[in-house]
Amino acid sequence: MSKWIRPKYMPCLPLGNNHSRITECKEHIQLSRMASCEGAVLLKNDNVLLPFKKGAKIAILGKSQIDYVKGGGGSGEVSVSGVRNIYQGLRTKTEYLEIFDPLSLYYQEYVETEYKNGTVPGMLKEAVVPSDLLACAKKFTDTAVIVIGRYSGEGWDRKNDTTDDYFNLSQAELNMVETVTANFDHIVVLLNVGAIIDTTWFADDKHISSAVVIWQGGMEGGLAAADILTGEVNPSGKLPDTCVKAFDDYPSSENFHESDAYVKYTEDIFVGYRYFETIPGKKKCVVYPFGYGLSYTTFEFADINACHNQKNILITLTVTNTGSRAGKEVVQIYYSAPEGKLPKPARILCGFAKTDMLSPGKSQEICISFSISDMASFDDRGVIAASSYILEKGAYKIYVGTNVRNAKEIAYTFELSETVITQRLHSYCAPKRLDRRMKADGSYEILEYKSDKKTEFVCDYMLAEKPEAEYKLIDMAEGKVDLDAFIAQMTEEELCRLVSGQPSRGVANTGGMGSLDRLGIPVVMTADGPAGVRIRKECEVNTTAFPIATALAASWNLKLMESIGRAGALEVKENNLSIWLTPALNIHRSPLCGRNFEYYSEDPLLSGKMAAAAVKGIQSQNIVAVPKHFACNNKETNRKESDSVLSECALREIYLKGFEICVKESEPQMIMTSYNLINGVRASENVELLTGILRDEWGFQGMITSDWNNKADHEQEVKAGNDIKMPVGNPEKLLTALTAGTLKRKELCVCAKRILKMLLWLE
Ligand code: BGC
Repeated sequence: MSKWIRPKYMPCLPLGNNHSRITECKEHIQLSRMASCEGAVLLKNDNVLLPFKKGAKIAILGKSQIDYVKGGGGSGEVSVSGVRNIYQGLRTKTEYLEIFDPLSLYYQEYVETEYKNGTVPGMLKEAVVPSDLLACAKKFTDTAVIVIGRYSGEGWDRKNDTTDDYFNLSQAELNMVETVTANFDHIVVLLNVGAIIDTTWFADDKHISSAVVIWQGGMEGGLAAADILTGEVNPSGKLPDTCVKAFDDYPSSENFHESDAYVKYTEDIFVGYRYFETIPGKKKCVVYPFGYGLSYTTFEFADINACHNQKNILITLTVTNTGSRAGKEVVQIYYSAPEGKLPKPARILCGFAKTDMLSPGKSQEICISFSISDMASFDDRGVIAASSYILEKGAYKIYVGTNVRNAKEIAYTFELSETVITQRLHSYCAPKRLDRRMKADGSYEILEYKSDKKTEFVCDYMLAEKPEAEYKLIDMAEGKVDLDAFIAQMTEEELCRLVSGQPSRGVANTGGMGSLDRLGIPVVMTADGPAGVRIRKECEVNTTAFPIATALAASWNLKLMESIGRAGALEVKENNLSIWLTPALNIHRSPLCGRNFEYYSEDPLLSGKMAAAAVKGIQSQNIVAVPKHFACNNKETNRKESDSVLSECALREIYLKGFEICVKESEPQMIMTSYNLINGVRASENVELLTGILRDEWGFQGMITSDWNNKADHEQEVKAGNDIKMPVGNPEKLLTALTAGTLKRKELCVCAKRILKMLLWLE
């Protein structure tokens, strides 16, 4: 198809074979189901209760078997033709399993009535199990499946108190669990969740043999759960977050809801397993460690070898399936840096790989390499060299395993006889009001600030001469004029319009960009992600709902992530949209963040690698990927005004690291800034973040968009390098600033150039 035909004319042309539609096609729905299976994490399987034997009889308890949550709410919501809940999923296996239907039908009636009464799906209270039904169920079988569900969404956070049971089970859920454990001998738990909740109630309970986190598994999540329970699929997911005993064990719990105005990241770099594995006495808080997940088969690692060259460390090993079922295993590599002057977690994930499907007895060679400089720490206090990444001298130990806790030290260490500065960078986004931060011994360092330094960035854009003739953008694509000359012919009004969003067309509901007819600049539309393409229900176009990002991260399968990126991008394209506002990769700092489901993990490497794989898949179809929300959007409450207060070290090593990996590995065409402030400066007005770190230090070549309807000032955004204000900008204000001389034409031209480059990249 010729350039920009889709955005210009919006033809209804299907992209599948024989003119079939790709959007929500059978293959994509199948991919969604497969991904849901691949992310499921088997936490417990005593007495090998799972997979159920053929002919097993089960009773399913819990309203979430019907009130199934396929994904979270808000811009991550996806309209689908249908969702298969847990009961429906298990019903498809009646040749294998027998279900005590009356109980499930009771829950179905309860859920339908609640929906009619206006209760938000996913937020229904647990129903009381009627004693007569229970007695019949008990006669029918001694095996029960308990389903517990959780829902959250954009713009609000969950709580864990008397008003909102999120992490802990509610009293009604506890009552149901108690009833089940008192009446059934064999119990399986399914967790239909978007973030970690309490797991102690089954981990410690001898009556409950098995538990699987099935996450919010997309439109086919119920089928996928059934595939796992019947053993058609062998679970191979691993936790992307740590499960702990009590909500208060997470260091973020102390101050997550302390204020609507700010969040103080006082735990510093000790987020997730970095905290539990490092801080004295905290190991015992962990119920299931980061990276943990069982299988229906067993694996052995052998021939573990490591070596290094100037740049990289290479680990090789052989993984063998030593059990009796085909399955996949995830090899995880962690390192520990020598104790020195800079704070260091006891373990840091530095590489991972998932095997192919291995039949019993089969082996696979695995090679994992990572860069030596990736083990450097950021010195934000000038202890060794200010604002530099530093490898301190000493022994860097390597651990190989299948979770952070069982990873064993290997017979190789990387020794450094001298401390090395790997990168000299700048002090950017420094805190002004972080009073303390955690040290590796669990005590706090008290912070003081002397100066309030601000870095000046000079706009060195050279204004070009206007070309003689008038050119259209297509002439640029055909090499007849260069971009700077093309921009030189744009009026100030046109420049101001270009850096402002445009109204939605077609099935888009989040607006678009471009649209200057005189210059032949097409208008291209955006759509939300990340669990699928979000098209408004009214358009009557259903799209594929994939499992949530956390479930995909739990697959630890980068190829799978890439294929979901590709599939989603094809749906974007078929609907004449061009820019997919995904992936989202903020860090899981607290289980209460309302948008955790859209994000991958508590670990930046896993998050960054997943996001990079998504971007590669999306952009392979010439659809623009938009990693978001850059950065530190780890809480939803008052997100447009909340200030994320954190050290430069935590910022770089934890909250920016995933973005850095994603930018360097996959070159996204666009990045979306977050609503929140970072150390007192709005992300989209933050020149140090956008120009200093993202562009100058990391070499990001793409364009930057604001998040939608933020509260930032458009002029300041242009100056900071936030190229477009979405979904509408403030062109009048920009024109006034140009006239007043506070804004320079060349500053606008820099943004315009990046937007045009993105448009030229599009088909
Ligand atoms: C969200 C973004 C989303 C945008 C457009 C905002 O509220 O934070 O993630 O892409 O809306 O819907």
